[in-house]
Amino acid sequence: MSLITIKNLVKIYSSDGVNTQALNGIDLEINEGEFVAIMGPSGSGKSTLLQILGCLERITFGQYFFEDKELNTYSDDELAFIRNQKMGFIFQSFNLLPRLTVFENVKLPLIYTENLKDFEKNKIVDDLITLVGINERKDYRSTKLSGGQKQRVAIARALVNQPKIIFADEPTGSLDSKSGETILKFLQDLNDQGHTIVLVTHESEVAESAKRIIYIKDGLIDRDCLVTNRRIVKEQGFNK
Ligand SMILES: Nc1ncnc2c1ncn2[C@@H]1O[C@H](COP(=O)(O)OP(=O)(O)OP(=O)(O)O)[C@@H](O)[C@H]1O
Ligand SMILES: [Mg+2]
Repeated sequence: MSLITIKNLVKIYSSDGVNTQALNGIDLEINEGEFVAIMGPSGSGKSTLLQILGCLERITFGQYFFEDKELNTYSDDELAFIRNQKMGFIFQSFNLLPRLTVFENVKLPLIYTENLKDFEKNKIVDDLITLVGINERKDYRSTKLSGGQKQRVAIARALVNQPKIIFADEPTGSLDSKSGETILKFLQDLNDQGHTIVLVTHESEVAESAKRIIYIKDGLIDRDCLVTNRRIVKEQGFNK
């Protein structure tokens, strides 16, 4: 079933009188349960695309459908609600709040959840902290953690609302290779459990753990490939 449909997506950033066209007319469909990696040169529009998919940026032209709802017609408040209920985010720089403990960081997205009692929220947070293996650090401030530990906290936080889809922008980019492998394994396990994953990466070894790789060039999809057992099995060119 189609989760995301994007039609002729154009994104133009305007700042200080300068326009930058980051995306030049992208058509894309992502189905429920997919694990998609987005690759491409620096500046090609990968993060812009991920931020639009995750409702962190608005499109300039085109259409964005999520679960058949046309999100480009939604207000900022409506988008914030969808983001909070359906989407989880993992960033290269972790984006944890330094003054909060591990436990408090993971609990943060549950602030807006009204149908759970506080003890129920605490149980969800405790279970996730255990799942990502950071239990003995749960009362530490996030500044006292290693990069790999921070990223595990970020994953727990991304999962706390049981999101349908997880967006990850270079989630292993600031990690050593062993921590990076652990994070990738988590993402693969989540995908096996049915979560849809969209990940941006520079590294082909990381992309090959996905089931599909989309290559972006100059704000357009250049190639769209299926991956099986870390091999590209089917390729479709999009260059006109
Ligand atoms: N907030 C912004 N304001 C203005 N221009 C921006 C903004 N964000 C990105 N851009 C521009 O849009 C283009 C695409 O940027 P984007 O960050 O999506 O690239 P990227 O593929 O993620 O690159 P990288 O691999 O270096 O992270 C670039 O030319 C960039 O300078
Ligand atoms: Mg980027």
